[in-house]
Amino acid sequence: MPDTLPDLTPYRARWNRRHLLDLESLSADEIVTLLDVAQVMKEATGGCRRKISLLQGKTCANLFFENSTRTRNSFSLAAKRLGADTVEFGSSGSSVAKGETYVDTAKTIEAMGVDWVVTRHSTPGTPHLLARELDCCVLNAGDGPHEHPTQGLLDLLTIRQHRGSFEGLTVAMVGDIAHSRTARSNIWGLHKLGAHVIVCGPPTLVSERWRELGFEVAHHLDEILPRCDVLNLLRIQFERQKARPFPSVHEYAALYAMNAARMKKARKDILIMAPGPINRGVEITPEVADGPHSVILEQVNNGIAVRMAALWLLAAADDAHRGIAPNSQEPNTNISGSTS
Ligand code: CP
Repeated sequence: MPDTLPDLTPYRARWNRRHLLDLESLSADEIVTLLDVAQVMKEATGGCRRKISLLQGKTCANLFFENSTRTRNSFSLAAKRLGADTVEFGSSGSSVAKGETYVDTAKTIEAMGVDWVVTRHSTPGTPHLLARELDCCVLNAGDGPHEHPTQGLLDLLTIRQHRGSFEGLTVAMVGDIAHSRTARSNIWGLHKLGAHVIVCGPPTLVSERWRELGFEVAHHLDEILPRCDVLNLLRIQFERQKARPFPSVHEYAALYAMNAARMKKARKDILIMAPGPINRGVEITPEVADGPHSVILEQVNNGIAVRMAALWLLAAADDAHRGIAPNSQEPNTNISGSTS
């Protein structure tokens, strides 16, 4: 375990964005920089359990207009692990019920002196709107079915930790591609880093347009399974669907659920991933979710590391934008034993 944080100076030179809105617009180098810093953060904090007070005095506001367990709590923990303060806003119980708009709400929270706004909203493009309207850094924690960049990054980090690189890997995103922001962020990230990406699911949930963009489209999991290195099993997002895309959950599970019988046909070293929340018995059965190939809880832990990396890199770019010297951002690079 290191006593002090490794020198982060080289990473500053590789990053100049003040917002993290999607993976589609990032270069492969930028994605690798985020993954590299996340790995440093993870190792320097004993698996994201200890503090490194790099960003003491800064404040992170979570503005969540949709439910969340993983993303919201791990952004909050990531900020605290970096020594920053947090503000928690949930639309339920707020003045949104009195007619305050999304932008006015965000500007109100920003006026309390925050450095990052982390936003989740059901409407695609809302983080991009805030990036134009606010002066602070903005991070997309999920905008409807569009993108969920930190989920994509934590999935990439988990794959890299197990496989070392992406060249030559075949990764299948399975399930509700049409409504999944996780799918879109993974697809762009995996493609940029050199993996072969298959989008697999019922024709009602997987557009043929993916083929035109250069991705493999499949409708039968059993046909592609033997050549997959990684499966990322997506939840069926009934809350975003206007019509039921298949006759019954039972029939969906028969064709697409990863279960013990399918595991026997898979590669011996297959990685089983899911962004969560998982619906046991629909996209994945309990023996697979809790089995030796599952890295679902590793993904959750990596979520803290990639969010620490994102907050730190954006803060570094923001300081440069404002003409603040790098060292004044790092008052204390000692590792603290505190766990929150
Ligand atoms: N994967 C994910 O975004 O989970 P939450 O909805 O719990 O944040």
